[in-house]
Parts: sequence; structure tokens; C-alpha cells
Amino acid sequence: MLLTEQEKMREEIRSLAEEYGKDHGSLIPILRAIQKKYYYISSVAMQEIANLLGIHPIEVYSVVTFYSFLSEEPQGKYIFRLCETISCDMLGKDQIARQLENDLGITFGETSDDGMFTLLYTSCLGMCDQGPAMMVNDCIYTKVTAEKVSEIIADCRKACCCCETTAKEVQ
Ligand code: FES
Repeated sequence: MLLTEQEKMREEIRSLAEEYGKDHGSLIPILRAIQKKYYYISSVAMQEIANLLGIHPIEVYSVVTFYSFLSEEPQGKYIFRLCETISCDMLGKDQIARQLENDLGITFGETSDDGMFTLLYTSCLGMCDQGPAMMVNDCIYTKVTAEKVSEIIADCRKACCCCETTAKEVQ
């Protein structure tokens, strides 16, 4: 018998609960794993997680809506988060923002129709002396130039954008 997408996801959540444990401390790791695979946390997933961990669905919902790395709305496979705090602003954040919007064909807060890219602003990434700074999924890019934005996007399309290191200076 073929499993529906929802059944597959439920099965995956059950297996994650076995792996991480069916207690409160497993909530964030399970949510992160589901976010990574499905690019969002559906209401069905929240209910299933709440049932398995023995907590109220509202608590799961509160965590999903509190943390910026989790989303209740479908997001792109690659999430671009451009720092909009003052140092990066002074170092040319606006030019990078326009280039991103132009190359991706979406504005900030949107996800591309093909489900590949989501464009968001974020606050300080702790790289203030190396701005403009942005994150693509878990990978930080510093000293980003407009010219390099296209290169980063092309790398994403080739599925090789996220480096193993935590910081990547674009030159
Ligand atoms: S102001 Fe952009 S990284 Fe701190």
C-alpha cells in the first residue's frame, strides 16, 4: 500500500521521536529536522509532534512561530537572510538587496514559484566588520558584492552553495 505524503511525514516524525527521545528536550531537534526536510512545519506535523511528546499543540506552535529558523509557511530550499542592521546597511546592504531581488525575481518576504528560494531580512549576524553579511541556510557569507550575488545563486542552483565551514568570505 502506498503511503500518502502526510502518512510518510507522520512516520518520519515517529522515527525522529524514537531517535531523539519522546520528551520535551526533543522538541527543537525534531522541529529542525522536519523544517530541513519539508522546508516548513505543517499543522499536521505540529499536532503529531505534540501527541508524541505529550505536550499541548499550542506549545509546539509557539516554538515554531518564535524561532526565525522555523516556519509554519512553506519556504524555499535555499533561504537567503540579508542583514539589515546598521553596519551592513552602511556597507551597502541596499545594493545587495536590489541585486538579490533582481536575480531571484522576488521581493523580500517572498518565496520563488519553483520553491527554490526565500528572501528575508535578518538582524545582526555578528559579522559587522565584514558586511554586507548574509546567510544562505546555515552558511554565512561576508563582504558580499552585487557581482557575487549571481554567483552564489548559481551555486545554489547547482546544489553546491552551502560550504562546510561556518564563514565564507566572498572576494
Ligand atoms: S550589522 Fe550586519 S552582521 Fe552585524
